[in-house]
Parts: sequence; C-alpha cells; structure tokens
Amino acid sequence: MSKVDLGVNIAGLKLKNPVMTASGTFGFGEEYGEFYDLERLGAVVVKGLTLKPRVGNPPPRTVETPAGMLNSVGLQNPGVDYFLEKELPRLLEKEICVIANISGANVDEYCTIMERLEPSGVAAVELNLSCPNVKEGGIAFGLNPNSVYDVTRRVKECGDKPVIVKLSPNVTDIVEIARAAKEGGGDAVSLINTLLAMEIDIWSRKPVLGNVYGGLSGPAVKPVALRMVHQVAGALDIPVIGIGGILDWQDAVQFLLAGAKAVAIGTANFVNPLAPIEIIEGIEEYARQQGFLAVEDMVGALQQ
Ligand SMILES: Cc1cc2nc3c(=O)[nH]c(=O)nc-3n(C[C@H](O)[C@H](O)[C@H](O)COP(=O)(O)O)c2cc1C
Repeated sequence: MSKVDLGVNIAGLKLKNPVMTASGTFGFGEEYGEFYDLERLGAVVVKGLTLKPRVGNPPPRTVETPAGMLNSVGLQNPGVDYFLEKELPRLLEKEICVIANISGANVDEYCTIMERLEPSGVAAVELNLSCPNVKEGGIAFGLNPNSVYDVTRRVKECGDKPVIVKLSPNVTDIVEIARAAKEGGGDAVSLINTLLAMEIDIWSRKPVLGNVYGGLSGPAVKPVALRMVHQVAGALDIPVIGIGGILDWQDAVQFLLAGAKAVAIGTANFVNPLAPIEIIEGIEEYARQQGFLAVEDMVGALQQ
C-alpha cells in the first residue's frame, strides 16, 4: 500500500499531519493524553492565555443546543507565567508542536504575552482576536480591520515566532479582516471562532447563560465556517487553518478541499475524545483512495 505524505507546512511550521486541537476545547492536553499519545497530533493549541490568571464568567457557562453548544467560559486560565512554568514543560517532554493561543485586554498586553513566550519552546502563537465572551480584548479587536492590522503588526514586532491570527465569524466581510491580518504581517489565519448566540429558559424567563450571550460551536456552525474558509483561501495567499464544527474525517476533508492547509478540532473533543486521531486516519485513507500522494495536494482541490 502506498504511503501518503501527511505533513503540511504552515508559516514555516512543519506539522506531521494537518490535524490540531482547537483552543479551549483541549485544556493543556493532560486529560486527553490518557486517551492517546499527543505526539500523534499535528499540533496542540492550548487554552487561551492571558497575562494574569482569570476566573472567567459567572455560571452557567455552557449549554447544549441543537447540533452544537454555547459557551461563555470567558477565558478562564491560569495566566501565561503559570503555563510557562507548569504546563509547557510537561508538553515538551514529548515531540509535540505546541501553539499558544493568547488574548490581551489591549495591544500592549498582547505584546507582553508575546515577549514572555518568545524564549519558550512554543512553536507558534495564535492571536485570539475573536473571543465573544469577554468585555475587553478578544473580539473587540477582531471586528475592525484597522485594529486587526495594528495588533498583528505590533505583536509581530515583539518576537520571531510565527503568528496565526484567529478570526471572528461575527463580521460582514471575512476577507477584509483576513486581509488586514495578512497586511499586518500575520503568517497564517485560523477561522472560525464561535458565533455570538443566546438561549432562553422560558420557565424562568431568563437567559440560560450567566453572561447572557455566548459563543455557538459544533456541527451547527460548520457550513458557515466552510464558506468563510473557502472565501479567504480563494482570495488571499496566506495559509488558512479551518475550524468550526468538524466532527469527523469527512468534515475535515471538506475544509482541506475548500483550501484549508490544516484543521483544528474543537467541540468534537467533548463528544468523542478520540476524534482527532480518527480524523487523521480518515484523511489518510481518503487521500490514498483518491490517489493523492500528499495531503498538501488535496488543499484547495475543490472542483468548481
Ligand atoms: C468551551 C470552549 C472554549 C473555547 N475557548 C477558546 C479560547 O480560549 N480561545 C480561542 O481562540 N477559542 C476558544 N474557543 C473556540 C474554539 O477554539 C473554536 O474556534 C470554536 O469552538 C469552533 O470550533 P468547533 O465548532 O470545532 O468547536 C472555545 C470554544 C469552546 C467550545
């Protein structure tokens, strides 16, 4: 049986395969390491990091919805210094490509976090400009092309690591925002983060989430994510990481065909902890069946 080359190169990062985890759905990997060897993943994208620890939003913070879920976790995390001291060394004991997802309350804070990560073994940094669940930072930057350009440019000046800009779907023109990330010096874009959404309990007549609004993820968002990935990959010469509702290898293949060079698996981890591994195996089998010698040959291979 011929061997398919699963490797992909994203912004200078050589990933062993195109499947990574989506930030916030995988913690720092420890729990999932009980199910499989994390070395099998293309990359681990860790929970969003802020400069100082955050306790997150008031409960309830998650609710299941048809074909998806809402969350308003609000970037609960132990802070970048704790991550560097306690979590990263454990991950780097193995051959794992670690991508740090970061959020700042202002541009200076994004830069400070980048500077702290620079001397570490983190392979790349993903800028979360798209968290809908916090008042400051996150999405505040992601909706406006000028601020996307500014924060990306400033962060790029603070270090040499590849910078992936994570985009919000809560915009009218995703290509305009992705272009701003590219012009600011972003090495790649990842999309989508969650869609701003709401659920109401009719008996208490209250919003279900403590934060009122939350982010919708899971299969319900997949067609939106796929459309946005297709638009960005078609319009710009920048590597795209496809995220949004990927449950199985068939979903992942759709994103690759639409032009994503890699995919990240989010909500699916909650349903099936082995999803990323099954997806890697499914992509390989599909590539073999279809006569692709390398996964990179599948990228954008959609017939129009
Ligand atoms: C519980 C939860 C927490 C999340 N936390 C983060 C985060 O810290 N940083 C980030 O950039 N995205 C975060 N996300 C967004 C996911 O990384 C992903 O972009 C989104 O859920 C869409 O993918 P999915 O439908 O496969 O889950 C979170 C999503 C969920 C469900």
